[in-house]
Amino acid sequence: MTALGPEARLGDFEASLDVGLKRSNRNAKWSKHGPDALPAWVAEHDFRPPPAVTGAMQATIDRGDFGYHDMEEDVGAAFARWSAERYGWSPDPGFVHTCVDVLQGVTAAITALAAPGEGVILTPPIYHIFLQICPTARRPQLEWLMRHDREAGWTLDPDDLEALVKREPGARVLLWCHPHNPTGWVPGVEVLQRVVELAHAYDFYVVSDEIHADLVYRDSSSPFVPLLSIPGAAERVVTVTSPAKTFALSGLRCAVMAYADRGLRRRVRQAHPPLLLGHAARTGIDATIAAWTHGAAWTDGLVAYLGDRRDQLAKRLAAETPAARFHRPDSTFLAWLDASDCRLGDAPATRLLEQGAVAVSEGSEFGTNGRGHVRLNFGTSAAVLDEILDRLTPCLRP
Ligand SMILES: Cc1ncc(COP(=O)(O)O)c(C=O)c1O
Repeated sequence: MTALGPEARLGDFEASLDVGLKRSNRNAKWSKHGPDALPAWVAEHDFRPPPAVTGAMQATIDRGDFGYHDMEEDVGAAFARWSAERYGWSPDPGFVHTCVDVLQGVTAAITALAAPGEGVILTPPIYHIFLQICPTARRPQLEWLMRHDREAGWTLDPDDLEALVKREPGARVLLWCHPHNPTGWVPGVEVLQRVVELAHAYDFYVVSDEIHADLVYRDSSSPFVPLLSIPGAAERVVTVTSPAKTFALSGLRCAVMAYADRGLRRRVRQAHPPLLLGHAARTGIDATIAAWTHGAAWTDGLVAYLGDRRDQLAKRLAAETPAARFHRPDSTFLAWLDASDCRLGDAPATRLLEQGAVAVSEGSEFGTNGRGHVRLNFGTSAAVLDEILDRLTPCLRP
C-alpha cells in the first residue's frame, strides 16, 4: 500500500488499495455483506485520499485542536478557488456555508423552498436515497422521467419538464442530480439554460446536488458546468456539494450549500430553526479545505484511473456477457446495467449476491424504470474489478 502524492500515477492508485485493510476497517462498503462478498454497491471508491488531506487532519490531531472553530469562511474560500480553477465559476465565498452532509443540505433547501403540499420533481431512475425525502417531508413527489436510447444512453429532455410543470402548477422544486446518479449523464449547457428558463417561467426552484461534479471523464460529450454559473440561475438555484465522492471522505461529514442571491440565501436560512443544520466537524473541514486546495493533480489522476476501469468494465461486458446492456457513463464510478434479459427475475442484485458473491445495488430501489437493472460501482483497482467480473459474468447470461 502506498500513500498517494499529488502527482499520483495510475500504478499508485492500484497499489493504494489494500483489501485486507479494507476488510478489517469499520467501513460499511467492505463489511456489510460479509467477508466472502466483493462490494460494488454504495457510491464510494476504494482509494486513500492524498497525503495533503490526511496530513491536514493529522496536524489538527497532533495539536489536539478540537475546540469550537471559526473556519466557515475558509471552507467558502477553498470551494470558490476550486470551482474557479476547475469550472471557471467563482462563487462569492460569503454566500457559501457548511452543513453536515449533502443530503442534509438538499433536504433543508427542498423543505425551505417547497411548502408542505407543494410538489418536488425527481428524475428517475434516481439515487435511491432521494426517494425518501418527499414521503417523510410531506411534499408530493413528481417525476421527470429519463429517456433511454441505445445510442445516446440515458438523458433528460427539457420538453418533458415543461409539459410536467404546465400540468402541475404546484411543482415548486426540481431536485437536480448533476451529474446524474445512477446513469452518469452530464447535461450540456443548452439543457442547463433551458432548466433555468423554465424555473423562471413556471416559478420553481432548483436544488442542484453536484457531489459527483469532479468525476466527469475526458471523453464526456459535455464537460461539467455548475448550474449556478448559468445566467439567470442566481434567483432560482441552490447548490449543495462536497469533496466526499472525489476524495472518499464520506465519514467525515462536511458539505457546503452555495447561493448566488442574497434573498434566496436568506429564505433558505430562515426557513429552519437556526440551530437545526448544525456545523461541520473540524476534521471534516480540514480535509475539505485541503482537498479543494491541494487536490487538483490527484483528482486528474483519479479520473484517468477510473476512466480506465470504466473501459475495462465495458470491454469485458461486451465480450463476455452482451445480454447485460450497458451505456458507458460520462461521469461517476457507477455503471447502470440493464440485466432484464439475464433471467435474474425482479431482484437481480439479490440473485447476484447469492450466485456470484458480489454486492451491487438493486435497480428497483432507484424508482420508476429501475426494475431489472443493477448499479455497479467500478471505483476499485483493476485486479478487484476483474475479480468482480469473473464472479458476475457467469450469472449475467440470457
Ligand atoms: C447524488 C448523491 N448525493 C448525495 C449523496 C450522499 O452524500 P452525503 O453522504 O454527503 O449526504 C450521494 C452518495 O452516494 C450521492 O450519490
